[in-house]
Amino acid sequence: MLNFTYYTPTKVAFGKGSVDRLGELLKEQGATKVLLHYGGGSAERSGLLGRVRRILDAEGIAYVELGGVVPNPRLSLVYKGIELCKAEGVDFLLAVGGGSVIDSAKAIGYGVANDFDVWDIYDFKAKPTACLPVGAIVTIAAAGSEMSNSAVITKDEGGIKRGSNFDISRPKFAIMDPELTMTLPAYQTACGCADILMHTMERYLNHGDSMELTDALAEGLMRTVIRNAHILMEQPDNYEARAEILWASSLSHNGLTGCGTDGGDWASHRLEHEIGGMFDVAHGAGLTAVWGSWARYVYSYSPDRFEKLAVRVLGVEPRESQEATILAGIEAMEDFYRSIGMPTNMHELGIDPTPEQIGELAEKCSITAKDHLGTVRVLQKADMEAIYRRAAGMEPNRQ
Ligand code: NZQ
Ligand code: ZN
Repeated sequence: MLNFTYYTPTKVAFGKGSVDRLGELLKEQGATKVLLHYGGGSAERSGLLGRVRRILDAEGIAYVELGGVVPNPRLSLVYKGIELCKAEGVDFLLAVGGGSVIDSAKAIGYGVANDFDVWDIYDFKAKPTACLPVGAIVTIAAAGSEMSNSAVITKDEGGIKRGSNFDISRPKFAIMDPELTMTLPAYQTACGCADILMHTMERYLNHGDSMELTDALAEGLMRTVIRNAHILMEQPDNYEARAEILWASSLSHNGLTGCGTDGGDWASHRLEHEIGGMFDVAHGAGLTAVWGSWARYVYSYSPDRFEKLAVRVLGVEPRESQEATILAGIEAMEDFYRSIGMPTNMHELGIDPTPEQIGELAEKCSITAKDHLGTVRVLQKADMEAIYRRAAGMEPNRQ
């Protein structure tokens, strides 16, 4: 087990009716003027925003609003939020939505609390020393931003999607009521389950060996996600399944399932971020579209971990050789993706990039990763391009 720091300062209010604790949680934070930040309409339609406004009014907490956050949240709206917060003297950011809204709030928080252009953080030119406090009311189990230190933003010009990772952005509180996620369309539920699974898999597939407890947590989480994702495809209103998936979304990305590992791989995420930036696809679906091509490209560099994934998580019976077991595991994972309606290649994702676009994806990914992507097998630009080509069906998947 390697040395690690585990830091999860987010106070979690979980369960039915937990939105009613909003006033208490904001007062604990000393919030006097709140930015109510939200997405494209789902929170309005469900009545959640109305409920939040009533609570803020009843508690006497002043607020201004900024909606319109889109999936793959845009830098342009972040700038708008920064201006609004400065003009209005906002001292707390309340994100009502999913990863996109929470990430947008975190980026606004950086922009308000630091005296440089917020994109400089994403362009590797500056490090934030502060962030306005963020709280979240989570409406989709997916990105896990409600407890993570990440904020992923897309620059409108050029579709450049980049992430930042600083502990100062971890939300102060997260309100998680599984009932709020019941209005999700099946596709978004599935995208979320895929992303949750991937956050632990990215950490699980590494070069570590003796991590009994972390492995058990990770394997249990992944099995839980697979089992309950199946239930939700049949019974979207199943409270227990919604609750399991929602709690898994936070634990999968707050660092717990990575304690003692070498930090994880994250190549699939970086490969997806470029696809999301260029084609504006849903993050979870973009991940499953590249994962199989990535896995087949790298598995021989960490075969024991891929074998464990196959046997312990996917229930593959050991085959005649380790390699056969691993390949059966990769196929089982792709079967799972398909069973919840997720793509296993770019065509199924709904995109057919040209060779030039593949080159651009690899070029951008290589710049972001400084030509050094992943840990299972360190990928350079030519490797990234090969994985994209395979995911696009331009050449067969092979080692
Ligand atoms: O905008 P509205 O109308 O609210 O619709 C949203 C959106 O279209 C809808 N939705 C959310 N809750 C709903 C609902 N629809 C009906 N009922 C509800 N209860 O779902 C759509 C997706 O929302 P979004 O916030 O984009 O989803 P997600 O949580 O998957 O976030 C994706 C973003 O997070 C980034 C991704 O790259 C992507 O930009 N990530 C952030 C991470 C982090 N900060 O730690 C880690 C992840 O790896 C990821 O990269
Ligand atoms: Zn993710």
